[in-house]
Amino acid sequence: MREELNALRGDALRDIAAAADLSALEQVRVAITGRSGRLTQAGEQMRHLAKEDRPEVGKLLHEVRTAVTAALEARTAELSSAAEEAELAQIDPTMPGRARAVGSLHPLQHLQRRAVEIFRRMGFALAEGPDIETEWHCFDALNTPPDHPARNEQDTFYLPDGRLLRTHTSSVQIRTMENRTPPIRIIAPGAAYRRDEVDATHLAQFTQMEGLYVDEGVTLGDLKGTLEYFFRELFGSDAKVRFRPHFFPFTEPSYEIDVRAAALGGGERWLELAGCGMVDPAVFAQINERRGDQAFDPDKVTGFAFGFGLERLAMILYGVPDIRMFVENDQRFLSQFPS
Ligand code: PHE
Repeated sequence: MREELNALRGDALRDIAAAADLSALEQVRVAITGRSGRLTQAGEQMRHLAKEDRPEVGKLLHEVRTAVTAALEARTAELSSAAEEAELAQIDPTMPGRARAVGSLHPLQHLQRRAVEIFRRMGFALAEGPDIETEWHCFDALNTPPDHPARNEQDTFYLPDGRLLRTHTSSVQIRTMENRTPPIRIIAPGAAYRRDEVDATHLAQFTQMEGLYVDEGVTLGDLKGTLEYFFRELFGSDAKVRFRPHFFPFTEPSYEIDVRAAALGGGERWLELAGCGMVDPAVFAQINERRGDQAFDPDKVTGFAFGFGLERLAMILYGVPDIRMFVENDQRFLSQFPS
């Protein structure tokens, strides 16, 4: 039995060393330590030995088992790391990684942030109001009479209860003055709605940015300076800003603002970009009546307001030919704008 065990050890260690891969090694293991493997059977034969031989053979059996188990473990480790290395060798670590798609700001968001940032530097604070407005906030308080065409059902989305989708963010001027006292310096970016036929330059929903400055002694000079500064910051120091007389019900005098700059299609043409004016005293009177005080006493305070559409600005600035591109969610369009 002793020779048999020594021979078994020799064979086992040789076969283990010779196993070329993990499945060959597994076959060797089964043949040695499996249920009917040689080592298992040798263990069973211990019963037939004479009692006095058992300790010595038992010791040898234990040694053989320890040696074989250790050899099996070592070879398993060796073969699995070799298998892993072979797998790794198929990968080219110098290949560039797969880039993860990173989102970017929508061009309108991008422009809005730039605009807000410029006005912030001049001390304007952000203000907001609801998209669903009362007629009073959107029209009456803004000195827009009931027979004004903007109030027409053909131009404005009315809800069954008489409220409406605001046609401009000027309603935020009104809400701000209802709730606060001068000095007021706010900008209000947000959605505005008009019952427009959708085409390359019109959407039924667009984005406006409105500004309001009310204090004692605010002049037309302040309005000019503020907007000239804004457009030069946005379009470059070569930007020329022109104020052309116009009419809005809620400002007097009123102007449309035209801008020319290299950044705006080469600067050949004056482009009409915004509306503005000095707040009409009739608007202050409406606010005072609503508040029940004289916080906006037209003899003491003056103010200016302005408003412009962000889509139109972005179209000219970024050379976007069709306003519908802003809402189509086409990645090929959106991914052209850096965040
Ligand atoms: N609310 C005007 C519009 O939608 C723009 C504007 C705002 C004009 C403030 C003057 C003052 O066209």
